Amino acid sequence: MLQKPERLIVDGKRLDGRAFDELRPVKIVVGPLHRADGSCYIEHGKNKVMAAVYGPREVHPKHLQEVTHAIVRYRYNMAPFSVEDRKRPGPDRRSIEISKVSREALESVILKEYFPRSTIDIFVEILQADAGTRVAALNAASVALADAGIPMKGLVSACSVGKVDDTLVLDLSKEEDNYGQADMPVAIVANTGEIAFLQMDGHMTQEEFRKALEMAIDGCKQIYKLQREALLAKYGGLENE
Ligand code: CDP
Repeated sequence: MLQKPERLIVDGKRLDGRAFDELRPVKIVVGPLHRADGSCYIEHGKNKVMAAVYGPREVHPKHLQEVTHAIVRYRYNMAPFSVEDRKRPGPDRRSIEISKVSREALESVILKEYFPRSTIDIFVEILQADAGTRVAALNAASVALADAGIPMKGLVSACSVGKVDDTLVLDLSKEEDNYGQADMPVAIVANTGEIAFLQMDGHMTQEEFRKALEMAIDGCKQIYKLQREALLAKYGGLENE
């Protein structure tokens, strides 16, 4: 367990030296898994996340089929070794909730009506967790969907914002997440400006909320740029073929 620091902001700086509106370093690898239809590996700070997409494919069990559109399934899973105290394997209330809200965010962009009676299955494995895993998972899933060639209105790009020592900060570190006053993960569809996902844990004033949302949207746009660059690095040349 991390020791509770006396302060999370010292001399106008965060404990890891970042500016208030600065993301942790993000690395995106497109298509590392060859048996999935699409995949993505993301390192976001010390988080390590792998996403795999299968489909569109036939739905099993069949009674889940929808005649007008594809169904989308999303499984967020934390590996037992991903956290400091070993996590009991298998789903728990937290992972079921994260899977549900993340699926809803992605369902808002996937053009499901193109694939009636099919399923699009998204699996996200958290290999190492260090705060902000649900947003890193969404970012990876969104790129993996694009890698699988699933038609979408746009990419979903996510990051969190929060309040620590009465100050709004972007992309909470583990200490800030554990000992801060509020944590708000947000996802946007960068090319339409829609908000696809927003949760809040803790308290903010209305004014803080407005400012926090602005900061989060800025952070999501930075993530979008990195997702786009990673996809173009793999697929950009295809335009000329
Ligand atoms: O990861 P995210 O910020 O989306 O979700 P959270 O529920 O706010 O969890 C914050 C962090 O707590 C995670 O990223 C993990 O580092 C840690 N955690 C843990 O150590 N053990 C768990 N069973 C769940 C979370």
